[in-house]
Amino acid sequence: MIKKDIQILNPDIKNDPTHEMALSVLEGLSSRPKSLPSLLFYDDKGSELFKKIMQLDEYYPTRCEAEILQKYSQDITSFVSGEKFNLVELGCGDGAKTILLLNTLLKEKREFNYVPLDISKAAVEFLLGNLEKEYGPIPFDVLGLVAEYFQGLGWLTENASERNMVLFLGSNIGNFNRPTALRFLRHLWHSLNDGDLVLIGFDLKKDLDVLYDAYNDKEGITKEFNFNVLDRINDLLKGNFKRENFQHQGLYNIQTGAMESYLISQCQHTVTIDEVGKSFKFEAWEAIHMEYSYKYLQSDIDSLASSTGFKILKNYTDSNGYFIDSLWTVCK
Ligand code: AVI
Repeated sequence: MIKKDIQILNPDIKNDPTHEMALSVLEGLSSRPKSLPSLLFYDDKGSELFKKIMQLDEYYPTRCEAEILQKYSQDITSFVSGEKFNLVELGCGDGAKTILLLNTLLKEKREFNYVPLDISKAAVEFLLGNLEKEYGPIPFDVLGLVAEYFQGLGWLTENASERNMVLFLGSNIGNFNRPTALRFLRHLWHSLNDGDLVLIGFDLKKDLDVLYDAYNDKEGITKEFNFNVLDRINDLLKGNFKRENFQHQGLYNIQTGAMESYLISQCQHTVTIDEVGKSFKFEAWEAIHMEYSYKYLQSDIDSLASSTGFKILKNYTDSNGYFIDSLWTVCK
């Protein structure tokens, strides 16, 4: 009997979503330089906008990773040995690329549970809808989890007694700075069993024009993705951000190796956020830092794996050499 279920692990969604958000906005806008937590990007509208970003000509990572999974799914799944296993996907989005792996597993008559996790409930529901479109009745057990990544690791710790393969695709790891990436990977290692597998998508360092265009698209969808965070603060926390006071800019920081997104105030003005109980002054040309998207060298990937208890089994890359899906195993 095939099972299909959604569990909400995120207490912010279950209880009062505004309290945590007000605290994080207060912290970000009180710091210098000002910042907003990048978690705020992914409400249902933000997840919709990110789906549009993934379809943009300029946003190459999605296409590169689809090419890799198209070419190497069979090779990747050959590393999971015979018994039934959990295929856990952290930050699943619409699951479009994962269907390539799922189809290979089905063709090979492998037994598995699919556990997609995303911070947006709408994204998990959309993914389940996509699976139904692809298969009719879904031919494997699916448990959708609505949670942040670290909450997902808590679920893994409690439920990872079977063999596991964890997918962390789409360069989601690039949105962590190095200390957070190390902490996340150490937690992940701790939640898994010896010999479990992890497939992580890393966006590689490359021509700066390619990077610039990917985060400053002509249609302005990335700009909209950033402005949506201000709209969310206005709606949920009773703020009065005005979009026309800001311009969006994505910039590459050579020292840190990250694309960094900013909303830059174009004039001196004050923003009041009632639920935070505070007003925030902006000088002309003062920036709010919105997001990091770290880019990797092969040697960065090697050092990340070895310093968090993983062994690299194989690196898969696309024909442009823009992106790597790196297959790791847990060594305990
Ligand atoms: C989800 N994440 C990997 C994307 C990235 O490339 O950092 C989010 C994004 N931000 C702007 N464009 C895409």
